[in-house]
Amino acid sequence: SKKITIAIDGWSSCGKSTLAKQLSKELGYIYIDSGAMYRAITLYFLRNHIDWTNEPEVDEALSNITLEFRSNNKTGDSEIYLNEENVEYVIRDLVVAEKVSEVAAIKAVRSFAVAQQQKMGAEKGIIMDGRDIGTTVFPNAELKIFMTADNAIRVERRFKELYEKNPNITIEEVKANLEMRDYIDSHREVSPLQKASDAVVIDNSDLTQTQQLQIALKYVRMKQ
Ligand code: C5P
Repeated sequence: SKKITIAIDGWSSCGKSTLAKQLSKELGYIYIDSGAMYRAITLYFLRNHIDWTNEPEVDEALSNITLEFRSNNKTGDSEIYLNEENVEYVIRDLVVAEKVSEVAAIKAVRSFAVAQQQKMGAEKGIIMDGRDIGTTVFPNAELKIFMTADNAIRVERRFKELYEKNPNITIEEVKANLEMRDYIDSHREVSPLQKASDAVVIDNSDLTQTQQLQIALKYVRMKQ
């Protein structure tokens, strides 16, 4: 079967990365989490007190950022490195999630990330998830999946994930963060979150992970 490019987009906490990881294992494709790049950039901006409303300051900061994905020796999972530091864990913090959509709306930040994503995906046999993969990063992807799920289910899933790390977190905080990110992500000027016209929709509100994988694999086989 021929190798293809798979673009997965959708709302926050819809299970995009879960599906992408499943597909990557099943197909032996490389998985790239584009959201991790925006999160790592945000982490850098926060740590270095970058005023991201100031264009020259943003350009200067971006010129000091190197992003890389490396495979974890034990788990085999791909993890993001910011200037040689593994930040895979710390970028999942709510402190980063609170600011990432603001940072990801900046034109210079998007050009910086998109150029690298396109380079990483220059060869087929890749799965990338995010918000603009099917519309902007890989408009010619053979398979585009747009994922969605009920709001309450998404909040619940993300809450469980964050609660394990920080038991002080509240469901209200998590809900507010998801709503805010979805709003900013779908209303920004530069490549807003949108379903590509040729994307297939998977609503996984009532699907198990196995069922969601089976559905996605059916689409993959149609395109291979
Ligand atoms: O996928 P994840 O939820 O980790 O992404 C974090 C944030 O990064 C999103 O809420 C969005 O603001 C931004 N993002 C984006 N474009 C992408 C991937 C993520 O703007 N392709």
